[in-house]
Amino acid sequence: MRRKRFFSGVGKSEAEIEFALNAGVKCFNMESIPEIDRIQKVAERLGKTAPVSLRVNPDVDAKTHPYISTGLKANKFGIAYADALEAYRHAAQQPNLKIVGIDCHIGSQLTDLSPLVEACERILILVDALAAEGIVLEHLDLGGGVGIVYQDENVPDLGAYARAVQKLIGTRRLKLILEPGRSLVGNAGSLLTRVEFVKHGEEKNFVMVDAAMNDLMRPALYDAYHHIEAVEPKNIPPLTANIVGPICETGDFLGKDRTIACEEGDLLLIRSAGAYGASMASNYNARNRAAEVLVDGGGYRLIRRRETLEQQMANELACL
Ligand SMILES: Cc1ncc(COP(=O)(O)O)c(C=O)c1O
Repeated sequence: MRRKRFFSGVGKSEAEIEFALNAGVKCFNMESIPEIDRIQKVAERLGKTAPVSLRVNPDVDAKTHPYISTGLKANKFGIAYADALEAYRHAAQQPNLKIVGIDCHIGSQLTDLSPLVEACERILILVDALAAEGIVLEHLDLGGGVGIVYQDENVPDLGAYARAVQKLIGTRRLKLILEPGRSLVGNAGSLLTRVEFVKHGEEKNFVMVDAAMNDLMRPALYDAYHHIEAVEPKNIPPLTANIVGPICETGDFLGKDRTIACEEGDLLLIRSAGAYGASMASNYNARNRAAEVLVDGGGYRLIRRRETLEQQMANELACL
């Protein structure tokens, strides 16, 4: 089997490490000394060699929302830049680890290239310092992070990013690994929701819809903007309203102060829900997670069934 998969994550369990080793993982991106020791222990027990890299925290400000910024000293991710060489030396002494690379991921929804390029620069300084000690890396993994348009953002020019990284890597013999998430799928998905009714509150209008924060958590979590439009626009007077779900939280909104022409029964499209949408969905308020439909050219097909209440309850145990 060709090894392709990387295993990232700040707190890998022993069971997960064992599973990944047995599945032939391409590389573990390790994030701490205890994790280095844990992977060594599991690999030794299984009589295997684990291919590893260290996720280094380059301490670069990604200038994105604090909850999706991961490369600062205060963040839980990665090994501190100043500790990286020592951590590599420690990993190099472990008999069941094979050091193959270096990794960083400074955050998500970056709309400016400069932090990504700065992180690459800082990581390459470490690559050279390691080579000088005889620890020669095969790959450089720059993570994901490239932003997309939700509203009116300027998104990084991928060509410019590629050229900048190519120039920095220069003649070093390093395979480049990228981990794009949002920039591949974010704008490929929309959340479809139906208007239950329009409620005129004392101070605000509310378009109550049948989707909620459990289906798309980003607005509640980061105050994120998603464009919302009627699937079949109607010639009725528009109103300015908060577009909200039925969950028992004031934070359960999908859009605030939107001007939209819609009424009971209309379908609305919530754009850019392809990343961190269904994958962050939950059963809060005993809500079934949504079905997923793949639109392919002129056709479409169901790729995930709507969850049922029976499925939600299946793991509950009677306590009597
Ligand atoms: C380690 C790592 N790599 C890649 C990604 C994908 O990031 P993005 O969607 O910003 O491209 C994430 C997202 O959380 C991540 O944690």
